[in-house]
Amino acid sequence: MEKLVITGGTPLKGEVTISGAKNAAVAILPATLLINGTCTIENLPNINDVKLYCEILEKIGAKITWITRNEIKIDTTNVCCTKAPLDITRKFRASYYLIGSMLGRCKDVQVSLPGGCNLGARPIDQHIKGFEALGANVVVNQGNITATAKKLTGTSIYMDVVSVGATINVMLASVLAEGTTIIDNAAKEPHIVDVANFLNTMGADIRGAGTDMIKINGVKELRGGASYSIVPDQIEAGTFMLSAMATKGDITIKNCITKHLESVTAKIIEMGGLVEEDGDTIRVKCTKRPNRANIKTLPYPGFPTDLQPQIGVVLSLADGTSTINESIWESRFQYTQELVKMGAKITAQGKSAFFEGVKSLSGAPVCSTDLRAGAALIIAGIAANGKTEVYNIEHIDRGYEDIEGKFRKLGAKIERVNE
Ligand code: EPZ
Repeated sequence: MEKLVITGGTPLKGEVTISGAKNAAVAILPATLLINGTCTIENLPNINDVKLYCEILEKIGAKITWITRNEIKIDTTNVCCTKAPLDITRKFRASYYLIGSMLGRCKDVQVSLPGGCNLGARPIDQHIKGFEALGANVVVNQGNITATAKKLTGTSIYMDVVSVGATINVMLASVLAEGTTIIDNAAKEPHIVDVANFLNTMGADIRGAGTDMIKINGVKELRGGASYSIVPDQIEAGTFMLSAMATKGDITIKNCITKHLESVTAKIIEMGGLVEEDGDTIRVKCTKRPNRANIKTLPYPGFPTDLQPQIGVVLSLADGTSTINESIWESRFQYTQELVKMGAKITAQGKSAFFEGVKSLSGAPVCSTDLRAGAALIIAGIAANGKTEVYNIEHIDRGYEDIEGKFRKLGAKIERVNE
């Protein structure tokens, strides 16, 4: 078992380069199944969820060649198996994208119900509603989902909730469908635009991604043969921006799209941080104890739930009392119990948490309960006085590329230790 051992108390300073977006990568990899041929994917984050996806694609017949640590070539010509390896698909959430892409390709697919971070109930009713509207027959039985169709026909689908996963999944299923599909009340996250751009590069006809109405004109085939570079990860960029705030540091974050980070930048300025933007670079500097602030998580372009634990660390150390209202997931405050072990004063009740800022945190052994909670605990450990040990770091490795290497380059005293 591995853990991260951090000796805290160092303000983070220097430059960090952001990797490709995890949540775009785990949708673009299955999207390659809609191509009958090859494509090259660049700026692919080297993280465990990507490696798992590559394993699944290889098990169903794709040929993957790693060109560099962050670039692969995928040949899907020989994919014919419609049953995904259930033991692997069970392990992570994004395996649900195999349903949309395999339905599109073969009109037949079986996967297990997806796992992933434990953030409370994670229904997929909107995905199923979309597939059924396109003409598929979907059966959920004994933890597995089977979806089959004679043919898929474009239609209008109104999403009852704004869902990233359902928007992408229905988009995947409708690219090769007959006629036009309209997704109304669609999610607008940058990774939705990225998946649409990838598919359009390969020959799809998708318009309106990034707005709440996406129109997909079905095409007969996707050509492949092209290269596509994945968008920078706005959650990783936000994680480093907030780590500058928590440690009173000065970090220049390179390879990010500043527009994607507007909600985070606004909160950092409200908390007294200094933000300078220059092209694809953001510098965040914090010279004093952060001001208190109230946060409500919302779908994009609102404040992202995936940065809620990280900003929770900053609020734990802020001057005054702050509130976070979590409107996406029902159990995303598990990290607060770990921060309390480090001296934070937080009360979490249902979907709200109240932070009475303290002047400093002290190191302690803590457990990463999910991916973003893990990132938050690393930031807390770097900001705290003394030694912090972060356990269950497999959650963090699922979604952050070389996280301790990047923090170490910024001056953090952090080591991965094998127990
Ligand atoms: C994606 O999850 C991300 N995962 C999550 O990132 C992120 O927290 C979430 O979007 C919200 O931004 C991936 O992209 C792989 P949703 P997803 O469908 O697609 C409800 C991380 O840390 N809902 O947008 O599963 C649902 O319960 C992870 O990187 C339904 O009711 O989230 C939630 O309240 C964790 N029915 C809300 O919608 C459905 O059919 C948003 O969920 C689908 C969702």
